[in-house]
Amino acid sequence: MEIGAATGRNGAEALSPLHPAPRHVGIIMDGNGRWARAHGLDRLEGHRRGAESVREAIRACPDLGVEVLTLYAFSTENWRRPAEEVSGLMELFRVYFAEEAESLIREGVRVTFLGDPTRLPADVQSMMCALEKATQEGRQLRLVVALNYGARAEIANAARRLAEQVAEGALAAEDVTEEALASALETADLPDPDLVIRTSGEQRLSNFLLWQAAYAEFIFLQETWPEFTQESFAKAVRAFRARDRRFGASFG
Ligand code: IPE
Ligand code: IPE
Ligand code: MG
Repeated sequence: MEIGAATGRNGAEALSPLHPAPRHVGIIMDGNGRWARAHGLDRLEGHRRGAESVREAIRACPDLGVEVLTLYAFSTENWRRPAEEVSGLMELFRVYFAEEAESLIREGVRVTFLGDPTRLPADVQSMMCALEKATQEGRQLRLVVALNYGARAEIANAARRLAEQVAEGALAAEDVTEEALASALETADLPDPDLVIRTSGEQRLSNFLLWQAAYAEFIFLQETWPEFTQESFAKAVRAFRARDRRFGASFG
């Protein structure tokens, strides 16, 4: 096990063993609007700056040992925002997908999506499909973008799928197990997130990976998403690696 420095109570650097890196990190990218307001800018400028932090987060992953990065980009509740902000966000997704495809391929990033794409503009949906296809050979990092994603809808859809199988006689009711439900979720091929980071001081999940985060560690950062850097990510991973996870077992 790698040895890392942790700051003791008197400020002294004590050597303590570090746990393994988080395989899967989820990030609730919050605070773009507050960042913009604090700088006297339009909310959309905050979202634009947020896209730069996305690049930072992706670049940091290989060195930090992170294999899967899930980014919460747009929730099923975000449709409640003013139409102008929603269409501005959709335009940003277009620009991001178009501009980033080449470097994602170069950096070996495989991109997939979570959520219901059908409510998104048709051209955004086609760009998502094209990006999934163009990056499918990427092996350095799996980037999962949660776009029009809501965990409750995901769980309800999985339950409905299992119920249909039971109704058809393809599945026995007693086989509706945790494993069966997990395999019916959109995240069936992903490990559960080990760490969920939320920026901007809010301490809630806002309908993000409710099932999968059952045993995730949570780190809430005060900084807004546009302020998030590779260094912020490295610090959060170090804090995660200093934590003891017990999964219900007794201490020690
Ligand atoms: C996160 O920033 C981006 C999205 C939810 C799309 P916000 O837009 O929520 O920023 P605040 O919370 O209003 O500051
Ligand atoms: C959560 O942020 C959704 C995303 C980051 C995409 P919100 O800003 O929408 O969450 P609430 O409304 O503060 O809970
Ligand atoms: Mg917010």
